Amino acid sequence: MRLQAVTTNSLLLAISPLVDGHYTTDNWYPAPNATGSGGWENAFSQAKSFTEKLNLTEKIFLVTGVDGPCVGNIPAIERLGFKGICLQDGPLAIRQASFASVFSAGVSTATTWDRELMHQRGAAIGQEFVGKGAHVMLGPVSGPLGRSALGGRNWEGFSPDPYLTGVAMYETITAEQSQGIQACAKHFIGYEQETQRVPSVNDDGITIQAVSSNIDDRTLHELYLWPFADSVKAGVASVMCSYNRINETYACENSHTLNKILKTELGFQGYVVSDWGATHSGVKSILTGLDMNMPGPLGSSDSSLASWWGYNITTMIKNGSVPESKLDDMIQRILTPYYYLQQNSATYPTIDIDTAQLNAGVTGSDVPAYQHPFNLGTNTDKNRDVRNGHSSLIRQLGTASSVLLKNSKNTLPLASPDRLALFGNDAVDVTGGPYDPQNVFGVQAVGGGSGTGRLASLVSPLEAIKARLPSASIQYITDNSLITSDGISSIYPTPDVCLVFLKTFATEGADRTSLLCDYNSTQVVETVTSSGSCANTIVITHSPGINLLPWADNENVTAIIASHFPGEQAGNSITDILFCDVNPSGKLPYTIAYKAEDYNAPIVNFTGSDNPNAWQSNFTEGLMIDYRHFDHNNITPRYEFGFGLSYTTFSLSNIGISKVSTSNLDAYPPNLGAEVPPPGGNAALYDVVAIVTAEITNSGSVPGAAVPQLYLSFPTSSGETELSSTTTPKKVLRGFEKTQVLAPGASATVRFELKRRDVSYWNVEKQDWKIPQGSFGILVGQSSRDISLTGQISFL
Ligand code: NOJ
Repeated sequence: MRLQAVTTNSLLLAISPLVDGHYTTDNWYPAPNATGSGGWENAFSQAKSFTEKLNLTEKIFLVTGVDGPCVGNIPAIERLGFKGICLQDGPLAIRQASFASVFSAGVSTATTWDRELMHQRGAAIGQEFVGKGAHVMLGPVSGPLGRSALGGRNWEGFSPDPYLTGVAMYETITAEQSQGIQACAKHFIGYEQETQRVPSVNDDGITIQAVSSNIDDRTLHELYLWPFADSVKAGVASVMCSYNRINETYACENSHTLNKILKTELGFQGYVVSDWGATHSGVKSILTGLDMNMPGPLGSSDSSLASWWGYNITTMIKNGSVPESKLDDMIQRILTPYYYLQQNSATYPTIDIDTAQLNAGVTGSDVPAYQHPFNLGTNTDKNRDVRNGHSSLIRQLGTASSVLLKNSKNTLPLASPDRLALFGNDAVDVTGGPYDPQNVFGVQAVGGGSGTGRLASLVSPLEAIKARLPSASIQYITDNSLITSDGISSIYPTPDVCLVFLKTFATEGADRTSLLCDYNSTQVVETVTSSGSCANTIVITHSPGINLLPWADNENVTAIIASHFPGEQAGNSITDILFCDVNPSGKLPYTIAYKAEDYNAPIVNFTGSDNPNAWQSNFTEGLMIDYRHFDHNNITPRYEFGFGLSYTTFSLSNIGISKVSTSNLDAYPPNLGAEVPPPGGNAALYDVVAIVTAEITNSGSVPGAAVPQLYLSFPTSSGETELSSTTTPKKVLRGFEKTQVLAPGASATVRFELKRRDVSYWNVEKQDWKIPQGSFGILVGQSSRDISLTGQISFL
């Protein structure tokens, strides 16, 4: 069936009405053809000339995955000297690879609030992927954004705040691609829970559809799309459509989100790749904007192998259901970044075949070279070491992403204690193998699933502390069951300081079931702190993000550090903080509540229902997630978004607020003429419209870096009906700047640039970003609840 073409003039049709509790999706055809605009023009011409040389079978090869040495493989076409495309997981490491680094997770990266470090991390990761001969790295992640505190993959992404995540996506993508690797922003969009992320078949043989994230248009734009817009602006090569449905249509066949929003509104010139197995149709997925189907297969010309795409595309072209020009556009979208990043160069590294063995599920020491029928990766070079000294950067990242939450009685930093005791199964080396580490024993340096890594040079806290204090008495009990059953009376002499290491696992494929740390953590802390030996207990957590800390007010817990998933240098990173080799500057990129019920936006679960359409997740909280929800409902957090202590103190002064233009702006951005805007959307949205400055002074006695933050209050009572205080957050993050290390008494001036998009809301009726009338509140502080400078600004 041919689908009706709708032109971009029908923008107004795109408003999604709420029907029966969820939002409907309009159809949007056709996807605009790529042009390579925004800097890819030459590469686009190369891609176009190459496409012209392909026969139909070869064209099909370019858009459908095959088995091969990488997690995703586009086969080589030897006749034309094309060496194929190798796609590898994931956001923090080359997932299975040997002799590669395991970096800190996304959540840790956001916790640094440090653009420069975000960039350095991206560059180092990108360099390792190129070194292993990959062409596409499947990351970074901004979906999930982190709507639900229990989301199983939140840690792969950055923060539930779209501004912070947007900055992290931009820095990561530009840095990765500067090394020659294609980045893939994933998972697009509304992918906020693991539970029923894919369809299932129940005992009666009924297919139960994947969860539908039902999101209104304003929320979609201001929360979930925002960091993807930054990704497209950064020039991201590819975007991965997600497993879930959006407003009841699967993400990889959703013309509203792919054709309209991504390829038209955001002007995306690259390609959309499906998540693995997220394609649910042939013609429909192609016409709705999917460009590459992973992992395939091609199927066979006699149809003995199932595939929505592959050889079936021949039929679609021949019977006219898919125009060949559409297939050509898909190929050009796929090949333009390949040429732009010069991945066709004769010197581009070959695929390290150790990843072939691992992706093929074959492990062992001496597996014969993987021979692929399409000659993709048939070199014999393996176990190439691509680490290039990155461990010092990983150590620095882990340190910068540790948040000091409590420090009473000046417990920290440690001087040189003679007597230490360590407790908890997170303090030691992993005992169950380095890959995808869900071990009872072992520091939780990363999470599980496709976003994991191979921790072949992991440094545990115990190892690092022993190395740091070679002559101290260091005792440890690292079996949580033993601690809670037998107590810690074997410890002698009484320690000067006790360190409890707690961990929390999270993985792709499952949402978390508790916000507490794992392995009876509350009882472990209780046992240690009530033992009589540990009146001075420091609790350190390694975790995917949000944890409830029910023992935080225990007076024997004198310090708490949230160390997230720091990667392979976990032990050294925490030691640097404990001894003040580095003064902590990490700030929470999410909110820590007193109790689980304080969080909203739960994971939905309709297990057992035989209604195929039962799984509906209504995002009725709109923009009110994380700190916006706590602010909106006057809920006091235990530790708020943006919070983190230092061993020194800082004070803010001298706010400066100025508009960039003296004349009033138009409420809507000027239409710059093109039907499809440059990558990122209307360029005027990124014009700087105001500058805020503030002075920050180190008012304590230890050198340290600060992270001043800028929040904005939108005018909710100035007559803009869409901006009521029931739908608009009290404040939103719109700037942050980590300073250099400041000596005691020293000051720095920080500068925040407000762009047009920062001071606009998404006007659903006009389908555009609008600056509201009235006065905005400017709030500058050191956390979302520690605001010390305020001012006002208006634009209209
Ligand atoms: C599924 C995951 O959702 C995605 O993130 C990953 O890149 C692919 N599998 C390939 O492993």
